[in-house]
Amino acid sequence: MDKFVIEGPTPLRGHIAVSGSKNAALPLMAAALLTEKPSVIRNVPRLNDIHTLNNVIRVTGTRVEFDAGAHELRIDASDLHTPEAPYEQVRKMRASFYMLGALLGRCGEAKVSLPGGCAWGPRPVNLHMEGLKALGADIHMENGYVIAKAPGGRLKGGTFRMDPSSVGATVNLVLGAVRASGTTVIENAAMEPDVVAFCDALTGMGAVISGHGTPVITIRGTDHLQGMDFRNAPDRIETGTFMIAAAMHPDSDLTITDTDPGDLGAFTELFRQTGVDMEIGTDTIRVKAPKHIRPVSVITEIYPGFPTDLQAQWATMMTQAYGASEVTDNIYIDRFSYVPELVRLGADVELRGNTAYIKGPNKLQAASVMSTDLRASVSLVMAGMVAEGATEALRVYHLDRGYETLEAKLNAVGARIRRVPQE
Ligand code: EPZ
Repeated sequence: MDKFVIEGPTPLRGHIAVSGSKNAALPLMAAALLTEKPSVIRNVPRLNDIHTLNNVIRVTGTRVEFDAGAHELRIDASDLHTPEAPYEQVRKMRASFYMLGALLGRCGEAKVSLPGGCAWGPRPVNLHMEGLKALGADIHMENGYVIAKAPGGRLKGGTFRMDPSSVGATVNLVLGAVRASGTTVIENAAMEPDVVAFCDALTGMGAVISGHGTPVITIRGTDHLQGMDFRNAPDRIETGTFMIAAAMHPDSDLTITDTDPGDLGAFTELFRQTGVDMEIGTDTIRVKAPKHIRPVSVITEIYPGFPTDLQAQWATMMTQAYGASEVTDNIYIDRFSYVPELVRLGADVELRGNTAYIKGPNKLQAASVMSTDLRASVSLVMAGMVAEGATEALRVYHLDRGYETLEAKLNAVGARIRRVPQE
């Protein structure tokens, strides 16, 4: 398990490119299983989560080739013969559960392991199962597996209202609906840009989908789908992460490229309130740090509200703000594993319920830190980049799940991060 040694404080200056969206790529890969034709997905990030899902997909007999250098993924499901997703693979990554909707949609049957536990949550899958039952699936549990069958080998259209709105359940329902017989209506559907990109790709394959990006998605089932040829969206969470990193040191001036500023929802306006100087282009965002960061409190919500995937990064930035602020996570009430680690770096952060109370500014001192959550891990790296001395961030494999060549990207704009292999 490698660790990072991060020398701080360092300003960030120059240009940094955003990779393809992890949380759009994963549903796109599942969608490629719905057709017997070959598919190509472009701008796929080189991440451990992508490799994990590639291996899950290969179990079905589907051919997968990932040209990591070209960020191009080719999937040929013409010989898909085993509609199963085994525990030893699914337990590594929750999004493998998309195999349930994909295999039900393609084969009319599926045997998929329930996802393993996460470091935070709760992360139930009741909406995925109730939603697919609304499309006619017979579903029962057996030894930790979901066994699903579509009577007559094909799901039928249906209407399902989600409560709460769920990204994963929306993806699984769309996967089940696009080749069903009849029309499906998903109410209170997730509106994340990742879901919109996923539905756009399916539409390009011949699916008949409308309303994606709004709370009501309507899918008219079709018999056949063409192969996918789709360029994945940029990663909005990586974009927000780099924007926050740029705000944390007063001498930083960072231009984020290959991104889509339109995907950030409420984040952009809240970020502006911190006093940063932002120049927004078509696919670039330039961030010049303020002399003093203004404290701004945030509450996470479903898109287009402030994203839970940026709350740890935001709280870390608030340790440098001149005043008190609060960060509340209503999506995942216990996603705060980073708080005790920030305290060890010298930050004044107190957790009460699902709110972190932060008093800044804090001069952070280097320490050894670690987290088991991908977004918390990157927040500790960002804290290390402004802490005095050499911070050690342990278990960076969590970072490798969701940030492509993070240390190379950050070192190219002034960070001093060294990856140290651990025995
Ligand atoms: C997706 O997870 C993302 N993962 C997460 O990003 C992200 O944090 C999350 O959406 C929220 O935005 C991917 O896209 C691969 P949910 P997902 O189902 O789909 C409740 C990252 O760091 N819920 O939208 O699992 C649940 O308890 C990852 O990249 C149910 O009650 O999230 C939670 O409160 C971490 N029943 C809320 O919905 C269900 O059946 C949101 O969960 C499903 C969810």
